Amino acid sequence: MPGIVLVGAQWGDEGKGKATDALGARVDYVVKFNGGNNAGHTVVVGGEQYALHLLPAGILTPGVTPVIGNGVVVDLAVLFEEIDALTARGVDCSALQVSANAHIIAPYHRVIDKVGERFLGKRRIGTTGRGIGPAYADKMNRVGVRVQDLFDEHILRQKVEGALDQKNHLLVKVYNRRAITVDEVVEELLSYVDRLAPMVRDTALELHRALGRGDTVLFEGGQATLLDVDHGTYPFVTSSNATAGGACTGTGVPPNAIDRVIGVAKAYVTRVGEGPFPTELHDEWGQRLREAGGEYGTTTGRPRRCGWYDAVVARYSARINGITDLVLTKLDVLTGIERIPVCVGYRVDGRLVEEMPFSQSDVHHAVPQYEYLEGWTEDVSSARVFEDLPPAAQRYVLAVEELSGARISAVGVGPEREQTVVRHDLLG
Ligand code: GDP
Ligand code: IMO
Ligand code: MG
Repeated sequence: MPGIVLVGAQWGDEGKGKATDALGARVDYVVKFNGGNNAGHTVVVGGEQYALHLLPAGILTPGVTPVIGNGVVVDLAVLFEEIDALTARGVDCSALQVSANAHIIAPYHRVIDKVGERFLGKRRIGTTGRGIGPAYADKMNRVGVRVQDLFDEHILRQKVEGALDQKNHLLVKVYNRRAITVDEVVEELLSYVDRLAPMVRDTALELHRALGRGDTVLFEGGQATLLDVDHGTYPFVTSSNATAGGACTGTGVPPNAIDRVIGVAKAYVTRVGEGPFPTELHDEWGQRLREAGGEYGTTTGRPRRCGWYDAVVARYSARINGITDLVLTKLDVLTGIERIPVCVGYRVDGRLVEEMPFSQSDVHHAVPQYEYLEGWTEDVSSARVFEDLPPAAQRYVLAVEELSGARISAVGVGPEREQTVVRHDLLG
């Protein structure tokens, strides 16, 4: 079972970090293929909580080689802060590999992200403010700075000049900010070179060889399907391909090396930032899910918007990603709700639809159509096999499976590494 992709099936924060970590040392490589430190993955091991942003969740498992692929945008200050914080807690980060082709998030990207959002006003995206969008924009505009550029000061200076040329006009004349000098950027970036050098690799070649040996490689997606720049709720998305296809372009591994696609979905839905969210709850039920699920952002601390499980979204994700296995997380959070609504379709301008509307206006107008499933009151947090779950919780999982377009292979019943019910081995 060598090539496995793991992606978020909703709007992020589904528990991808925990799902990756739970696979543990049965995986040889964990490769991040998109996004950057906009991600926030909380992993709990033996009562210890780790918040990962830029580093792949596999870093917590000894023996796993963590890789940052070419599709990631790297903020070097954050990279070393995160490594230092984990090292201080006894986590060995020395095996980390970073693609020479990954793009750098420079100080001007962070500034433009923040002032750009302010400028958008009511039309803002609600970004994490980490410079993600502007860094990807430079990549597409062919004025980005890549990891490999740091190793030749002459080239680095040229690239930074090219990147700053238009931006300084924008910063000074439009945004009323101070100009950023080439020298200050080059100086900051060069300060990381000595530490970075030993990690930099042709990671595409490394992964090609690993797969050739029969090693198990897990491609860990950041963000999620509905935040994908092509397939999400554009423009309220992130700026990368968070869907399974991104694992290929974001690492240099071909599609025929992928054997399995794991989708991670919460037993309800959350979203951070702006944009449509058909099953969103504005009443006390939303508040209840937020409190019971601890739904506050790992990266920005923002309260997450909460809503009921949306099977239209799940089916769409199953289709776009080719999901073979779903991991349904946070089932424990639904304990104690008498009748649990599950969205099975939308009503859009009087029509009933079962597929995600292709028109963004229709998504904004979609009114969820609910079926009500019987709830349970028993504590599920110590369940480890399906039969440990109370009968109503079993029926909930089976009903959601029937509606979601993929089998549910694992069910999360708590934040700890072990708190998972396994129905089908994700690596078997
Ligand atoms: P990610 O970005 O997809 O990795 O998800 P986050 O880490 O941002 O958010 C998921 C949150 O839910 C984290 O705080 C996890 O510790 C927690 N979590 C994951 N799975 C479960 C579960 O099955 N039950 C409960 N109660 N919490 C979980
Ligand atoms: P993980 O990997 C949830 C959201 C932001 C904003 C939009 C664009 O933890 O699931 P960006 O800074 O990427 O330009 O912001 O995307 N967003 C996330 N929401 N989980 C994430 O990551 C997210 N990464 C970005 O809130 O709406
Ligand atoms: Mg998260």
